[in-house]
Amino acid sequence: PVLVAMDLKDYIRDVPDFPEPGILFRDITTLLAEPGALRYAIDALADKVAGLAPDYVAGIESRGFIFGTPLALALGCGFVPVRKPGKLPAAVFREEYTLEYGKNVLEIHQDALGTASRVLVVDDLLATGGTAAATAQLIHRAGGTVVGFGFIIELTFLNGRARLPEGTPAVALVSY
Ligand code: PRP
Ligand code: HPA
Repeated sequence: PVLVAMDLKDYIRDVPDFPEPGILFRDITTLLAEPGALRYAIDALADKVAGLAPDYVAGIESRGFIFGTPLALALGCGFVPVRKPGKLPAAVFREEYTLEYGKNVLEIHQDALGTASRVLVVDDLLATGGTAAATAQLIHRAGGTVVGFGFIIELTFLNGRARLPEGTPAVALVSY
């Protein structure tokens, strides 16, 4: 079935000064609430990354879980959660990184990936790239290969792509 193009920007709400003054927050809750837009976002992303043939989608907490799980289903992949600290119950690898606004830590289960597995990293939004780069590092430490990155939104003016591993494809459905 051919995917009829939609402009997802019509469904993304701009919230000024969140979470702090000067940040124009791109809010995907309005997209999530619209069934046609939600389905399109998953189908369009699946279309663009299917050729990377991942074994797993790694979704980044929290908003990466929302998009990563249906994407994994669409691709016929497993889903691996990359979580904020202290949430995963078994042994973890841990990476600290800087955000557009603040600092954070992410963790992955040490045994989450089989050896030689191909992993697609998914999140709602690429800003400075710190989160995605830290996730790529975690996947590498867990023995996986990052075959690509998939985002709904890219904030191009923050140049997050420059922090991602060189030569690894990164796809975003909408850019600001
Ligand atoms: C946001 C967003 C990405 C990250 C992008 O997550 O969902 O994960 O920031 O920023 P970066 O490219 O500059 O690293 P946030 O940490 O706000 O967490 P949330 O998904 O739990 O709201
Ligand atoms: N919008 C939504 N999430 C974000 C942003 C933003 O502008 N920057 C970092 N995470």
